[in-house]
Order: sequence, then C-alpha cells, then structure tokens
Amino acid sequence: MKAAIIYASVHHENTKKVVEAIAGENVVDLIDATKEKERDLSGYDLIGFASGVYYGKFHQTVLNFALANLLANKNVFLLCTCGGSAAFQSIEEVVKSKQGKVVGKFSCKGYDTFGPFKLIGGIAKGHPDDKDLADAVTFYKGIIQK
Ligand SMILES: Cc1cc2nc3c(=O)[nH]c(=O)nc-3n(C[C@H](O)[C@H](O)[C@H](O)COP(=O)(O)O)c2cc1C
Repeated sequence: MKAAIIYASVHHENTKKVVEAIAGENVVDLIDATKEKERDLSGYDLIGFASGVYYGKFHQTVLNFALANLLANKNVFLLCTCGGSAAFQSIEEVVKSKQGKVVGKFSCKGYDTFGPFKLIGGIAKGHPDDKDLADAVTFYKGIIQK
C-alpha cells in the first residue's frame, strides 16, 4: 500500500499538524500543494487530499493539484480542518470528475483567527488538540485496514 496526502495549510498550520500526525505513524508521502503543482501519482494506491476550509472550500492549490494530477478510478480520502463546519463539496466535485472513490472523510476544528474572529482571540483555540490528532490517526488506520 503506497499512500500520499496532498495538502494545503496556510492559516495556522492546523491541517499540517493533522497530516504530520498521520505520517508520523504511517508510511505516507506528504505533498504540499502550495509548493508543488505536478507529481506523478501513478505509483500510489491511496491518495488523500487535506486542507483548511477557506470560504467554504478546500484551498485552491489542492483543487488545482487534484484536477491536474489525480488519475482516474483512484481510492481517495478527504481531510479538513475548519473554524466552523467541515466542507468537502469542492474537492468531492473534482474527485467525482475523475471517477475517484471517496473511501473516508475526516474533519476536526482548527484554530481560526480569520476576519472578525481575530477581535475575540479566535475560535477553536487549541485545535487541533491531542485528541483530534489521535482521532485522525485512528481514522487513517481504519481506512488502510479496509
Ligand atoms: C481566508 C479564510 C477563510 C476561512 N473560511 C472558513 C469557512 O468558510 N468555514 C470555516 O469553518 N472556517 C473557515 N476558516 C477557518 C479555517 O478553515 C481554519 O482555521 C483551518 O483550520 C485553517 O487551516 P490551516 O491552518 O491548515 O490553514 C477560514 C480561514 C481563513 C484564513
């Protein structure tokens, strides 16, 4: 089983903490979509897309990466961190356009100081916390055992 997670984490590195927790306990290649636009994904059995939620969507670099590099009929899992509500639709549309199969979705809160939230010291402070990270690892282990 060869796995990669393509991620973007531009606000407080919340999503980065989650994907690094997964990669710390599993053999997973992490690809930062804000730095890399192209990668041959043909050698991977499982592809993850991970992002903070920005204006209700995955980061545009992750969406662009998926559009450019995701091959047809791949097993895909999705992961997001958010201040409010998880939002998978933007990436799900891209995966669907490539006939990908979404085998799991995980979300947790991520510290959010965007816009007016900054005035009140942010929301979801302290997240992802240790439990969020442990839950993410458990989620991932559940997927690879399927
Ligand atoms: C520009 C911007 C827009 C955001 N929009 C949303 C949103 O629509 N819904 C939400 O729940 N959180 C929103 N957030 C909060 C982020 O999703 C949250 O803090 C996330 O954990 C950031 O992940 P990162 O640190 O990996 O970038 C937004 C944050 C920023 C900076």
